[in-house]
Amino acid sequence: MSLSRRDLLALAATTPALAWLPRAAEARDLGGARPPLPRAPAPDDEAAWEQIAREFLIEGLHLNTGTIGACPIPVLEATITHMRAFERITRQEGVDRVALRRELETFLGAWPGSVAVVRNTTEAMNIVASGIALQPGDEVLTTTHEHIGGRCCWELAAKRHGIVLRTFTPPLDPASEAHLAAAWMEHVTPRTRVLSISHVLFTTGLLQPVEALVRMAREKGIISVIDGAHPPGMLALDLQRLDADYYASSPHKWLLAPKGTGLLVTRPDRLATTWPLIASGEWDVDDPRKFEHVGTGNDSLVAGLRAAVAFQQAIGREAIEARVHFLAARLDAALREIRGVRVVSPRRAPFRTGMVSFTMDGVPAATLQQELGRDRIRTRVIAEGDLGYLRLSTHLYVLPRDLDRVVGRLAALARA
Ligand SMILES: Cc1ncc(COP(=O)(O)O)c(C=O)c1O
Repeated sequence: MSLSRRDLLALAATTPALAWLPRAAEARDLGGARPPLPRAPAPDDEAAWEQIAREFLIEGLHLNTGTIGACPIPVLEATITHMRAFERITRQEGVDRVALRRELETFLGAWPGSVAVVRNTTEAMNIVASGIALQPGDEVLTTTHEHIGGRCCWELAAKRHGIVLRTFTPPLDPASEAHLAAAWMEHVTPRTRVLSISHVLFTTGLLQPVEALVRMAREKGIISVIDGAHPPGMLALDLQRLDADYYASSPHKWLLAPKGTGLLVTRPDRLATTWPLIASGEWDVDDPRKFEHVGTGNDSLVAGLRAAVAFQQAIGREAIEARVHFLAARLDAALREIRGVRVVSPRRAPFRTGMVSFTMDGVPAATLQQELGRDRIRTRVIAEGDLGYLRLSTHLYVLPRDLDRVVGRLAALARA
């Protein structure tokens, strides 16, 4: 007897060993015809989101977009097509970077002429930390929940140039925006020159009130540097409204772009006074190209980035944000029902994003990760700072029934 794909999917729903059939099985040949993407589906339009999930080659369940996203097939196609054409040598075509910058500005709500395409958040943060004028004794304020990609650049500046890196632990379940903003401002001193703020904490998914923090910083003449590794592709951003001096990001995460693509958005009035990290062609212009030209690189990744922006624009930024929240809220609520599970992500909606972190009494996060890993469920242990959380990310390729299955596994582990 041969089973159709539909039969297999029905079986998969009930049979653990078949639970993770690759959803894109029928589209594995890149270049295969696929229906147009659903436009602005409602957060609970399961048929639409199932179709979108079939655009990916994921085998198993990917709950770690916070580390790396998965590229959808159109992004892979654009990347590979560009790479193949390039290796024909005599028919090489560059990527239209002018168009790409414009598309990114629209996608991010950024100022015209503010976006540089770099390699990742780590590089973007380093450009800023080494490119702004700081004196020995100047203070940079950040939290104890920073990722190495947003923190080490300041540690280097401290060791090399004598700046002072101050950290504090923010309230992880803030009562209000004012509560969280006040916690920052309590640690500002007359020597504070920079606030280095994770827009979303990688540890718990906490969304910080960047707009208010930037405003307060600017009133005191303090530069705002945002580690925005997560929000593009997860939240519909309006960077002009946030108005930060610098915004660094990794579109290989939630924007689902190829690995090795990054963004640095610079408030236009700061372009002239920010040095590039690497001096190459165009290092001395007063526009974002000064941060981009680092010698020969891989333009195919940039072609993929363009396709990633197009992929998300076709679905709709607001629709994706709503779906991510819908899934995270469902996961959060179900986890809080499990006896012994302590959710450490914020309870209040304005602070919540697509990452939910928790601990389980008596079961180390590494054990949970290992157990889920047996079912090909990819998660992230937040071992940094001895926090010991397990973090789950809910991007658009995750379906409610996937979450139900994960919650069921966790409930069983909690009972064991
Ligand atoms: C908040 C935050 N900042 C920076 C980074 C570093 O990103 P990348 O490795 O793409 O530079 C990460 C990666 O997970 C992150 O979560």
